[in-house]
Amino acid sequence: MGEIVLQATKICKSYTNGNHQLSVLENFSLSVEKNDIITIMGQSGSGKSTALNILGTLDQPDSGSLEISGTRVNNLDEMHLSEIRNRDIGFVFQFHHLLPEFSALENALVPAWISGNQEKKNDALILFETMGLLDRVDHLPSQLSGGERSRVAVIRALMNQPKILLADEPTGNLDEKNAIKLIDLLGKINRDFDQSIVLTTHNPDVAAFGHKQFKLENGFLYE
Ligand SMILES: Nc1ncnc2c1ncn2[C@@H]1O[C@H](COP(=O)(O)OP(=O)(O)OP(=O)(O)O)[C@@H](O)[C@H]1O
Ligand SMILES: [Mg+2]
Repeated sequence: MGEIVLQATKICKSYTNGNHQLSVLENFSLSVEKNDIITIMGQSGSGKSTALNILGTLDQPDSGSLEISGTRVNNLDEMHLSEIRNRDIGFVFQFHHLLPEFSALENALVPAWISGNQEKKNDALILFETMGLLDRVDHLPSQLSGGERSRVAVIRALMNQPKILLADEPTGNLDEKNAIKLIDLLGKINRDFDQSIVLTTHNPDVAAFGHKQFKLENGFLYE
């Protein structure tokens, strides 16, 4: 068995609205090994974003444990959490959250600025080349196609060379051709940069890309 980079054990999460309780995750357990590509397929509302946000320490579970690179992160304060997040986790958000006033290249450099590294431009340009976007670095998000925006979001997530890339429906807004292109690029990233990838999708063709494929349904994760 390979090195385990992330281990979630029996994560439970529910939301309370008034006197109604909605259980979204029940005993959600997942091991991510180095170089894994894991896909989690589920319908809208099945809890994919909730699960990835918890795996990425952006949200807290009600119970269960989460280890990242062997460190149990459940009870860490926000300062230590953000350290681990910046070092080990790259996040591709469902709605990208690219900053509209900044160019593609500047958007990619944001996490590097946050972690205080000013010398990252060349790393970014290598990733833009890998992702076939070298001629789009000066475009604003509004001047990019949906597929190009998704690729910029992936580049930004990779800037700090995280051990794990968590991608929440990265192909959700893309047509089939661009979805396959993005998936191929994620495969290349996985091979070239030894990146573990966990991605969610509602598309069976995208799910099939995982070395390990799971389904999320009624709060449970199935193989
Ligand atoms: N803050 C919240 N408060 C209450 N309910 C919430 C909250 N966030 C999410 N939910 C509910 O939890 C369920 C899971 O939401 P989640 O966003 O994880 O689903 P998803 O699988 O990512 O869906 P989609 O494919 O549409 O993005 C949904 O039914 C949603 O309505
Ligand atoms: Mg979602």
